[in-house]
Amino acid sequence: MHGRFTIEGFGRHVPDRVLTNAELETIVDTSDDWITTRTGIKERHIAAPGEASSDLAVKAATKALAYAGREASDLTHLFYATFTPDAFCPPASCILQEKLGIQGRACVDMNAACSGFLYGIETAMGALALRPGSTVLVTASEITTSRTNWADRATCVLFGDGAGSVVISDREPKPGQAIIKDIILKADGSLWPLLTVKGGGSGWPLKLGDTIKDDFFIEMNGPEVYKNAVRSMGSVCEEIVAKNGLAMDDIDLFIPHQANLRIIEAVGKRLKVTGDRVMVTVDRYGNTSAASVAIALADAVSEGRVKAGSNVLLTVFGGGFTWGAALLKFV
Ligand code: ACO
Repeated sequence: MHGRFTIEGFGRHVPDRVLTNAELETIVDTSDDWITTRTGIKERHIAAPGEASSDLAVKAATKALAYAGREASDLTHLFYATFTPDAFCPPASCILQEKLGIQGRACVDMNAACSGFLYGIETAMGALALRPGSTVLVTASEITTSRTNWADRATCVLFGDGAGSVVISDREPKPGQAIIKDIILKADGSLWPLLTVKGGGSGWPLKLGDTIKDDFFIEMNGPEVYKNAVRSMGSVCEEIVAKNGLAMDDIDLFIPHQANLRIIEAVGKRLKVTGDRVMVTVDRYGNTSAASVAIALADAVSEGRVKAGSNVLLTVFGGGFTWGAALLKFV
């Protein structure tokens, strides 16, 4: 890789409102037992009415900046991963910039579905390679419940809202910060119909007076998503670890996309990374899409799950399909 890439700060925010499995039992025909057995999810946080993606993002970003000991005014770029931006236009990154009070910085949103956080990190590394000395905020923030069909028990039990942020620079890392050793991104667009949120897009337009249809919400082929997620995250993790001359035994903490505990356990089993070496947050947040690994990373840091010298392996998988992995080394 060209240059040094340091994650200086980590932050996350989830909305106050907790939606438990017991409460979902009153909304759709489901049970705590079904949700727990099939997904590992016990509860998720959901946004308050009127709370938008950028409202969560600004709180996660502020915490990441505080961890880094930086001011918002130090930022040169704001990269923002989401499939649930506040609006189609303006970009949510511009609304975040306004909320941080730092007019003038470059802003862009990116949508790689649940994989967006790692796509944001690679984009940050590209900006730093082109413009050394930059300080880049990468934020992933989702109000997945804005596209949740509360009448569809097969999907509405799976998702939650939240945001995670990191501050990335090319400075020498300080204790508690992490070096990005490598990153690999992948996608297979031929599989896009398996996981979609179509309605309201230009291919599935809504006209004045139209009624919202099921395709406005998250739709998926659950078993196919499951199989591809296990296969793709497993193989990209093997690839990045081997490419960097490591063995799976060298991985101190594994932070996979938090969609479903059974997927996490199946990938961990394939990689032989299990038990305390696996970060699990899906039980308390559900699937927060692009924010999931960003939140889990911030929680891993704040809960003391990483220490100086820790090798941390991140992996993501999402609609598109998109997937990827990153290797971090804590200092
Ligand atoms: N409560 C009770 N029963 C339910 C529920 C529910 N919430 N949802 C579905 N069922 C029923 C189905 O109707 C079906 O009943 P039937 O056999 O009478 O037809 C039965 O449970 C089994 O349904 P399946 O879809 O086969 O259940 P499966 O074991 O595949 O589990 C699940 C479904 C959890 C979605 C699984 O396929 C999965 O984990 N897929 C991965 C998808 C995922 O996690 N996506 C997240 C978003 S994508 C991402 O982040 C990458």
